Amino acid sequence: MDYKQQVADALTAPLDGTLTTEKIKDLIETPKTSKMGDLAFPTFTLAKSMHRAPNDIAAEVVEKIDQSQFEKVVQAGPYINFFLDKSAYANDVMSAILSQGSHYGDYDEGHGGNVPIDMSSPNIAKPMSMGHLRSTVIGNSIANLLTKRGYHPIKDNHLGDWGTQFGKLITAYKKWGNEADVRKDPITNLVAYYVKFHKEDVEHPELDDEAREWFKKLEDGDEEANRLWKWFSEVSLKEFQKVYDLLGVKFDMYNGEAFYNDKMQEVIDILKDKNLLIESRGAEIVNLDEYNLNPALILKSDGATLYITRDLATGIYREREFHFAQNLYVVGSEQTYYFKQVKAVLLKMGFKSAERMEHIPFGLITVNGKKLSTRSGRIVLLEEVLNDSIALAKKQIESKNPDLKNKDEVARQVGVGAVVFDDLKNERILNIDFNLEEVLKFEGDTGPYVQYTNVRAKSLLNKAGVTLNTEGYTLTDPNAWDTIKLLDDFPQIVKEANDKHEPSVVAKYTIHLAQAFNKYYGNTKILTKDDALEGRLALVKSVSVVLTEGLRLLGVQAPDEM
Ligand code: ARG
Repeated sequence: MDYKQQVADALTAPLDGTLTTEKIKDLIETPKTSKMGDLAFPTFTLAKSMHRAPNDIAAEVVEKIDQSQFEKVVQAGPYINFFLDKSAYANDVMSAILSQGSHYGDYDEGHGGNVPIDMSSPNIAKPMSMGHLRSTVIGNSIANLLTKRGYHPIKDNHLGDWGTQFGKLITAYKKWGNEADVRKDPITNLVAYYVKFHKEDVEHPELDDEAREWFKKLEDGDEEANRLWKWFSEVSLKEFQKVYDLLGVKFDMYNGEAFYNDKMQEVIDILKDKNLLIESRGAEIVNLDEYNLNPALILKSDGATLYITRDLATGIYREREFHFAQNLYVVGSEQTYYFKQVKAVLLKMGFKSAERMEHIPFGLITVNGKKLSTRSGRIVLLEEVLNDSIALAKKQIESKNPDLKNKDEVARQVGVGAVVFDDLKNERILNIDFNLEEVLKFEGDTGPYVQYTNVRAKSLLNKAGVTLNTEGYTLTDPNAWDTIKLLDDFPQIVKEANDKHEPSVVAKYTIHLAQAFNKYYGNTKILTKDDALEGRLALVKSVSVVLTEGLRLLGVQAPDEM
């Protein structure tokens, strides 16, 4: 509902052409407390152009406003404060939600424009860590938001599946590995070979030569090298898939780094053509002085391509394939500088679409205060964290609701939802510390708290057992007012979250809505059989619809019972 518009319209004639309706709308504010009114128009701008005291203008204009469509309109110093007709407002908001259901808040801003999202992107033969969790769940939620705003997201898993490290891995496997072990526990064993390689090559530098040879063979299409690489990829992907299944995240493409191997020559050709490649100590670099950035290393002295060479190919490929409206990279903030370089090189190459390329950074994640890293050997496996969370959720359900029927399924929804919600509830750029006990609390700003509030709403509706219409409700209870206003905000929240690619806007909103509703619930006998019963139930239903949709946008499920 566009109440700002209603207020702006009501002010247009009384202001007698001094300001356009558009301009009036821009000036409208929300008072600090709802006691002062729901919307306010400040007269300072007018005072300046009319050379008159703001208070006088406010007093004069308020007299000319047609008050019939509002509860009341009053002057307060330099402000004109509008109190909306609460009954009509409540009915408007609830009717919109009950008739549109999960489509409440949809808006076709994107007109189906393609938006590739580079997300998750773990490295083959390494464990997917809590660090990759962030990219996966942030990317997934950004995709949901884009869809709700009419865009067509394309979720692309840019796997780290190429590079000299695979020469090392093949060397190590051939020396110390065996097939049965890899089959049994792929990632653990592949990591062990890799770690052993790095230990051994301190005293046996010739290992590095061997590794280089194997990588060269891999690049030249050697049968054995490629067979092993493919196998390592497959077993790794199978492991990753377990995590994606738990999270319920699906991808549209798995175009890892290796996918761009045959697209690399063109990158080099364009750079050469435009005289952008400069030789520096045998390697080839692109100067980025004009962007105030360090030069980008494009080719190593032995002619091998790098991570950035593959990202340049990726940028070009995505432009040609998708003619994207935006091209997003959900990657940790430690790569911010790197993505500036990628963008700058693409622009120098003449790809204007790189202007629409955006790195979406996020902060570090620690677990119980400890950093995650594969090199130091402290590996926190994401799958384990999720399974631990599910187990703890199950325990809580056992004690709170022992008779619940589908306990395992609900434990999964709550356990996984708790981890995802915790990741998304703070501005993504902030560092977060993950603590299982904290994220699973049923009180506080947690996923389970929002899920539980929704379950409460649903059980109220079940108890009442009435079928609700989609309009014609009266609800004038002042206790309901905060909840109604929050419900009205939802479309705007979705817009803001999408504009900023910031799921935390939605997560925080669901917490606020849950809090407002719980307060209402605590102060009101909802099921009392009086004239306003249906109005109250319509509110309960509206809350449940919006909480469910908010959680869905975050990639969190909303159980019916828990
Ligand atoms: N595999 C990389 C890592 O784990 C992330 C890839 C990000 N995407 C990209 N297009 N560079 O750090």
